[in-house]
Amino acid sequence: MISFTVNGQPARVDVEAEKPLLWVLREDLNIVGPKYGCGVASCGACTVHVDGVPVRSCSMAASDVAGKMVVTIEGLGQGTLHAVQKAWIEEQVPQCGYCQPGFIMSTAALLKANPKPSDKDIDEVLSNICRCGTYSAIRRAVHRAAALLAGAP
Ligand code: FES
Ligand code: FES
Repeated sequence: MISFTVNGQPARVDVEAEKPLLWVLREDLNIVGPKYGCGVASCGACTVHVDGVPVRSCSMAASDVAGKMVVTIEGLGQGTLHAVQKAWIEEQVPQCGYCQPGFIMSTAALLKANPKPSDKDIDEVLSNICRCGTYSAIRRAVHRAAALLAGAP
């Protein structure tokens, strides 16, 4: 039995210790915002926060989150839309949308560490992959989210 917190709620799951966190979230807890893209920590579609740090949940064992705080796209805004989600809507970023939860989670972590990133910072830190090629819209939305977090109307 592995216990941890997901989006502010306690979770207890009876799974193999090495089961990837992504599948614990999706299969055992019915939290399906984190997506499966590659399964090898490459695409970022499965990104969630563990104790505030962005991780690729497809490549993290369930046992590694015991006692920790996991936040998925469902809990990012704590009942409202997070500034990054608002910026994504305002910039109309998604195409098919599949990769976007991962990008949003990665961006929220990026802006916590670097509230005013340059395009170069964004390209370096956001190593997620979008098959629809929304990268330029993502860059715009990151800047817009940074402005929203800085108090812009
Ligand atoms: S599914 Fe986890 S990085 Fe691609
Ligand atoms: S919006 Fe389709 S893969 Fe990124």
